[in-house]
Amino acid sequence: MSKSLNLFAPALGGTALIVGVAYGISTKNYGAQTIENLEAQLASSQAGAETASAKVQAADAEITELMAERDALEAAVASGGGLTQPAPASDAPFNLGREALPEEVAAWDVDVLPDGRGLPVGSGDVWTGEEVFVEQCASCHGDFAEGSGNWPVLAGGFGTLADEDPVKTVGSYWPYLSTAFDYINRSMPFGAAGTLSADDTYAIVAYILYSNDMVDDDFVLSNETFLDVEMPNAGGFVLDDRAELEYAHWSAEPCMSDCKETVEITMRASVVDVTPETEEEASAEHSMAEPETETEMAAEAPQEAEVVEAAADPALIEAGQGVFRQCQSCHEIGAGASDRTGPQLNGIIGRTIGGVDGFRYSNVFKDAAETGDVWTAEALDAYLADPRAAMPGTKMSFRGLRNPEDYAALLAYLQSAGAE
Ligand code: HEC
Ligand code: HEC
Repeated sequence: MSKSLNLFAPALGGTALIVGVAYGISTKNYGAQTIENLEAQLASSQAGAETASAKVQAADAEITELMAERDALEAAVASGGGLTQPAPASDAPFNLGREALPEEVAAWDVDVLPDGRGLPVGSGDVWTGEEVFVEQCASCHGDFAEGSGNWPVLAGGFGTLADEDPVKTVGSYWPYLSTAFDYINRSMPFGAAGTLSADDTYAIVAYILYSNDMVDDDFVLSNETFLDVEMPNAGGFVLDDRAELEYAHWSAEPCMSDCKETVEITMRASVVDVTPETEEEASAEHSMAEPETETEMAAEAPQEAEVVEAAADPALIEAGQGVFRQCQSCHEIGAGASDRTGPQLNGIIGRTIGGVDGFRYSNVFKDAAETGDVWTAEALDAYLADPRAAMPGTKMSFRGLRNPEDYAALLAYLQSAGAE
């Protein structure tokens, strides 16, 4: 196309010129004056033709450049990403681009839905997940997915959703496991999104489930086991039906006068005592619920002897160390142990409840410390089975030991590792 334009353009200029001259000579033969005019006309026609030809040359150069660019793009499309042929141009009104190839659509279409649609074939186990996680994620999310600095916490937070400061994690908050897979697959590791293989992503998600105490350490997550996982907060979300259910109610004409026939005062707030007047009163009320629990807890020391005996068994201690993984994101134990999110746990049996100096306990623990009660094996069992029930208001965000059998092993470990 550019070639024909190239040849045609000067020819057009030349033809116009010749016609002009022939016309001047044959029809306007009136003398020197006229001939001078004609010569001037001829000169200006020639100048015009030169400008036109320069323009045509510039356009021609531009066309050649665009064609080279198109050839390069076509070559790139043909060789890149396993694409074999460019699709035919579409008949869209602008005639720009082409329809995406199935391969191209597939490369974009990576979302995974709650019902498992979109999951790639693959699998990964907890221990592989731990390796990958420690390598690629722990710098920001902590070794146990407990978060590091201000980076998001991915595990724990159970039972905190109704708190003033809820800890929303994959375990405590997310209703669908598919969100974890999809999100990690698309956007993590932060700064290197899209680099994880399907198997690694399965393994990481398995490890996050394990860190949330939702699966055992031999768990393997795959496209086949994916739907078996029950998310603890799956029932915590509801469809927003306020438009149907509440809007009519709240947008009804409000009653502004004589809305009730008779008004009767049945009680006053100060009598019912729902408005504490001072701060101390407020916190005293807060801890009112717990004395019973504590007496209950302190009363049951005898069992301790049995468990202490069991503590001598090295296999049990080792098993207990495994159980302690659930605690070690918050607690240290052993020589040089210091307080982290939770207090250090050395010599815990027999130690004053809430008794570590300098640790900032919740009110329920501060009050317990004042009574001087100590941890018995039994009290600890009750606390670890259901922290919030045993010590209402505790800030230990741990939802409790899942398997009661784990307790003996854990206790054996706590006693052996924390012996001072
Ligand atoms: C360089 C730091 C960094 C690394 C490494 C990293 N992340 Fe993240 N991660 C973040 C940040 C920052 C966010 C919050 C992003 C946002 O809110 O947009 C986040 C968010 C997340 C979330 C969502 C948390 C929530 O509750 O909203 C998950 C799940 C997650 N990351 C998993 C991973 C996994 C798995 C890896 C390793 C493959 C990883 N991250 C590596 C920084 C990092
Ligand atoms: C998410 C962090 C977290 C996890 C996980 C956790 N704890 Fe705690 N723990 C705490 C905090 C915080 C406190 C202080 C409680 C308070 O002040 O209400 C605490 C308190 C305790 C106490 C009381 C200590 C004292 O000085 O009276 C014991 C015992 C304890 N935890 C044991 C455990 C054990 C055993 C596990 C694992 C099975 C565990 N915790 C898991 C954060 C945690």
